[in-house]
Amino acid sequence: MPRIYLDNNATTPVLPEVFEAMRPYFDEHFGNASSIHSHGQEARAAVENARESAAAMLGCFASEIVFTSGGTEADNLALAGLTREGDHIITSTIEHHAVLHACKHLEEIGCQVTCVPLDERGMVDPDDVRRALRPNTRLISIMMANNETGVLQPVEEIGNIAAEAEVYFHTDAVQAAGKIPIDVKRIGCHALSISGHKMHAPQGVGALYVRKGTKLQPLFYGGRHERSRRAGTENVPGIVGLGKAGELAMSGFERGDHRKMEALRDRLEQGILGQVEDAGVNGGKTLRVPNTTNIYFDHIDGEAMVIALDLKGLAVSTGAACSSGATEPSHVLIAMGLTPDRARASIRFSLGKQNTKEDIDFALALVPETGARLREISPVHPRQPVNAV
Ligand SMILES: Cc1ncc(COP(=O)(O)O)c(C=O)c1O
Repeated sequence: MPRIYLDNNATTPVLPEVFEAMRPYFDEHFGNASSIHSHGQEARAAVENARESAAAMLGCFASEIVFTSGGTEADNLALAGLTREGDHIITSTIEHHAVLHACKHLEEIGCQVTCVPLDERGMVDPDDVRRALRPNTRLISIMMANNETGVLQPVEEIGNIAAEAEVYFHTDAVQAAGKIPIDVKRIGCHALSISGHKMHAPQGVGALYVRKGTKLQPLFYGGRHERSRRAGTENVPGIVGLGKAGELAMSGFERGDHRKMEALRDRLEQGILGQVEDAGVNGGKTLRVPNTTNIYFDHIDGEAMVIALDLKGLAVSTGAACSSGATEPSHVLIAMGLTPDRARASIRFSLGKQNTKEDIDFALALVPETGARLREISPVHPRQPVNAV
């Protein structure tokens, strides 16, 4: 049975070129990047090359990149590193838990947090951010692209608001990096998080861009790694992988690969909507990253659909991977105004660089038929025969 993976917002496969770039740093060049002998120097050179690549991808100086263990650490470092007791933080209801739970913790230790709502398109209104400003606001943290709907947030406008108010602006770009070009100068942010495994580098590596001159408190205490912003021996193979994935993303943008991915996503979306009644796109009325579509299939249970599709070889998701297993409907879809039933009936399809037109056709052959079968047996389906209960 073929197995097709359309859950790339949960994690992506490491690309062969990325794997090959990393390979020598597990054995041949295994050195500690802090050692002064030649083993260490080889590792250091690889880390600094990767830093240049990550910086080129974000439009910043290499010295502004801090490597971390992933997106969660990058988000926590930005939030805790840029605030202190008594500060006010503005964030949104649709952030990833890496931001929301970090904010909750900061609230418990003496910060104030305002969560701005979003409209039915899945977007934060910059005017809400402006209205939430207080004299003690220190930081605005609003994501660049949502992990569940792919909806792009108005980060440049929010960057302007932060600049006018002279407060820090952090954006979680974990689901944007590698999918669309990013320029930290245009966004006007002081900090921006990325994660390797969402862009075809391995799990367990990420980075935080920190604008030059921005005072950041570290999360960890130890050696003076990463210019004293993140103590701990660098994950050299992972960092090399992140740098290589950044280079591949950049050459992909030049070739227009992201537009081709968008065309595949649209083919999937339109193919499903053309065949399935009572279905629609969550967040489809505004700009999105090119790889994501989140579709509701009224009168079905999303988890049952994920399991049924998996049995036939198609991997998709009901929402954020880290909250799967939870019966609560997605906080993002609820924040957009969906009913709990519709949120539970929603499926996220997310493409990666490995996906082809054949993969999309495979999904199109399965999804409408599976949806129809599930509706037949669904206790909430209005057209269910009376004697079938
Ligand atoms: C928007 C967003 N931020 C942060 C994270 C956390 O990144 P990581 O898995 O690298 O810790 C994720 C992961 O799903 C995400 O989607």
